[in-house]
Amino acid sequence: MAIPETIIQQITAKVDFLELVGQYTSLQRVGDRYRGLCPFHQEKTPSFYVQPDKRLFYCFGCGKGGNLFQFLMEMEHLTFPEAVRRLAEKAGIQVDLYDEQSLEKGRRQDAILQLLKRVAGSFHYILMYSPQGIPARTYLRKRGLEDSIISKFQLGYAPADPYWLKKFLEKKNFSRELLLESGLFTHRSPDRAFFVHRIMFPIYSSQGDVVAFGGRKLSGEGPKYLNSAESALFKKGEFLYGFYQAREEIRRTRTAVLVEGYMDVIALHQAGVEVSVAPLGTALTPAQVRLLKRFADRVILFFDKDEAGLQAMRKAAILCEQEELEPFAVSLEEFPYKDPADFIQNGQKGELQKIVKYPIPILEFLLKKTSLKKDTGTHQGNLLKVEDLFPYIESMVSEVRREAAIAQIADFFELDRDSIRKDFQRKKWINAPRKVSQEERKTESIQRTPEIILMILAMESRKNFEDIRSRIALDDFEDPRGRELYITLEELYREEEWSIDRICQRISDEALKDFVLSKLISSEFKMNQERLINDSVMFLKRRNLERQRQQVLKAIQRCERTNQAEELSQLLEKKMYLDGELEKLRAVENE
Ligand code: UTP
Ligand code: MN
Repeated sequence: MAIPETIIQQITAKVDFLELVGQYTSLQRVGDRYRGLCPFHQEKTPSFYVQPDKRLFYCFGCGKGGNLFQFLMEMEHLTFPEAVRRLAEKAGIQVDLYDEQSLEKGRRQDAILQLLKRVAGSFHYILMYSPQGIPARTYLRKRGLEDSIISKFQLGYAPADPYWLKKFLEKKNFSRELLLESGLFTHRSPDRAFFVHRIMFPIYSSQGDVVAFGGRKLSGEGPKYLNSAESALFKKGEFLYGFYQAREEIRRTRTAVLVEGYMDVIALHQAGVEVSVAPLGTALTPAQVRLLKRFADRVILFFDKDEAGLQAMRKAAILCEQEELEPFAVSLEEFPYKDPADFIQNGQKGELQKIVKYPIPILEFLLKKTSLKKDTGTHQGNLLKVEDLFPYIESMVSEVRREAAIAQIADFFELDRDSIRKDFQRKKWINAPRKVSQEERKTESIQRTPEIILMILAMESRKNFEDIRSRIALDDFEDPRGRELYITLEELYREEEWSIDRICQRISDEALKDFVLSKLISSEFKMNQERLINDSVMFLKRRNLERQRQQVLKAIQRCERTNQAEELSQLLEKKMYLDGELEKLRAVENE
């Protein structure tokens, strides 16, 4: 890969690593490091660290770590050149990377993103200004949406002519293959647009790229809502509608409002509740909850006022508890509206704003919907059974929280706590095994040998390595991984390259790289470096001398048996030398 090293260095120097990582997870300062919830795996207590001065990240939970390029590669599923390009753009650095094979995919994805962005813009323009857009415009006005909010979400209109989009894009010189890959055309007849005569909702990544669309039908046949097909860029279960627009406010207030549909998200934003998001037509997924958990501590569930909404809320509450995101609810009981969008349609902006200001804990909400009876028909209203609450109780991570919940249920029904507890403990209530997707900790297989410790210390500064290599040779290294590091460092030392980044790029053993990174980013080897180097060097020297001494002793015994006088005297001499060296070492150690 012919990306000049100078470019890599320029980018590294210019991009604010903390800011980059901060787009994916909230970081808090701890000493000279920053800590947060790992964006790569599910976790409840932060074990993800960033060391800004070294420009490294590492997660002690899942073992992922590396430099800023690796961060972006992992996070956005990019190849190295793709990551370089993105970051170069961010840093305002011109990179000319010509037709390398590996760039192909990146270019195609970029091209698709550009295409989607362009199409979103055109749909929006048509909605707002073209005569074709009048029915859609009228429809949205009828539903109470203001122009400013339509613009904020770049809502659009996909024309009724199914061939319009193809003709439009061909004029813009997008290739056939690209059009097919964009998800905007049907595979059966590739000239026909997938979204026809629909209100268009661009779906953004958390970076603000349009990655897909949702489309609501205006009239005629077909499902009410359609989403773009899944692609390399778009996995339904990993995105939340509105997250890009809501992200900053969620971060600021540590709160999100989760609703069912596109229109609900927009309605809440229009009411000034700029923290609302929705899944994309499917049930909430753990990945989506994790996305929220990066910025929020609590989530207000505001689902439709019907049986389906209630059940969805119950399930969402379980997922939230498992991730320790505290669930609250909004009750629509006293209102004639079925969902947030209804408030806006009826001009009730103020009411909508008020109702999310005072959410109630989800258990309180669920209790109100609960009957003691074993089988309650839905005809009696949106009723749950006590047993229906148990999966929720079980999902609680904190024992204390669980006990409090049981007490609350008992009090609510004026029952004995023990009988509720006994009922609850009768069986496992959540069928799905708790997803503690702990990636296997690759680093555990690495031993903390003195060789490796020395090499980690060497990486801390070139001066350390200089010191170490003057005192100990590769021959004294037994641990093969330690040897690999020594050799790598020696190469870099000669090349006068000394950045941790460069070093890590050269380590081919993934597990070793993870281990090294984890140690570099922990403060384990920051203090008393001189003493640690000294101790490790001494240890390796002594071990080497002792091993040699053992070999000599064995050889001496052999010679005594076979009467090889000449060789024996040589061996005895060698033994005396080794004893002397060991004695010297001991003397130095006792200084
Ligand atoms: P709803 O049917 O509750 O739609 O579906 P809504 O939000 O009230 O829609 P409006 O107000 O009539 O426009 C909620 C969500 O479920 C998904 C969509 O994401 C929708 O926003 N859905 C619904 C689909 O994916 N397909 C459908 O056919 C219907
Ligand atoms: Mn709805």
